Amino acid sequence: MSTITLITGGNRGIGLEVSRQLIAKGHTVLLTSRDLEKGQKAAATIPEGPGQVFVIEMDVTNTDSINAARDDIQARFGRLDVLVNNAGIDYDRDQNVLSADLDRVRRILETNLFGVWSVTNAFLPLLRESDNPRIVNVSSEAGSIAGIEGWAPGYSTSKAALNALTVITAKELRREGFLVNAVCPGWIATDMGGPGGGPLPPGGRSVVWAVELPKDGPTGGFYQNGRRLEW
Ligand SMILES: NC(=O)c1ccc[n+]([C@@H]2O[C@H](COP(=O)([O-])OP(=O)(O)OC[C@H]3O[C@@H](n4cnc5c(N)ncnc54)[C@H](OP(=O)(O)O)[C@@H]3O)[C@@H](O)[C@H]2O)c1
Repeated sequence: MSTITLITGGNRGIGLEVSRQLIAKGHTVLLTSRDLEKGQKAAATIPEGPGQVFVIEMDVTNTDSINAARDDIQARFGRLDVLVNNAGIDYDRDQNVLSADLDRVRRILETNLFGVWSVTNAFLPLLRESDNPRIVNVSSEAGSIAGIEGWAPGYSTSKAALNALTVITAKELRREGFLVNAVCPGWIATDMGGPGGGPLPPGGRSVVWAVELPKDGPTGGFYQNGRRLEW
């Protein structure tokens, strides 16, 4: 039976690359996108098989949209094995913490923190139907408190909070056999990362590592390319 893996923000960047790599490994990929047409166009660029791709509309900041996607997936697939919380916004390097636009920071948290939190809780019943449930939160070293340099205050705060959410969720679900980890893909040349970043495949592999963890794999950690990062 093929592993059913949902990816948020699957229509471009790292989400699309992860979708591509998992389809090549035989997963049933639920590529979600807040714009259905963009998701369909992106899915059409993925080489065929051995896995399959299904495109589903989902905006991680909209409860109705999350619930509609969940109900659709419940009806069509009956379970979810892996949730990849990838959608993220606004690497706000142009802001300084002392003069930051807090409405902008709230918008960042709405997607990068509350989006992940809402999607995770909405999909829990479907993940509980899996024999090997995993949640992968795509975070960033910019959220590593040990290494924070002071730039991108909204983004860094959102990813530090996401890391905390990852640990709390992992502890809560440990007894149910869930593996819940945060992963940094590294600096990758996407729309967000900009042209100075590295190529997509290694960034995708860093995420896929946490998707493919064996049943006795780690939980509640923060990783890049399979190696622990400092919190
Ligand atoms: N690139 C890097 O160097 C880097 C480094 C560390 C961590 N990361 C993390 O990796 C993840 C992916 O980043 P990326 O570089 O691939 O960024 P990207 O190219 O800007 O793509 C972001 C994706 O998130 C989606 N998204 C944004 N808001 C959404 C919402 N409300 N609902 C659903 N989808 C939404 C976007 O959809 P639309 O097309 O509709 O906007 C897009 O598909 C993010 O969590 C990011 O923080 C990236």
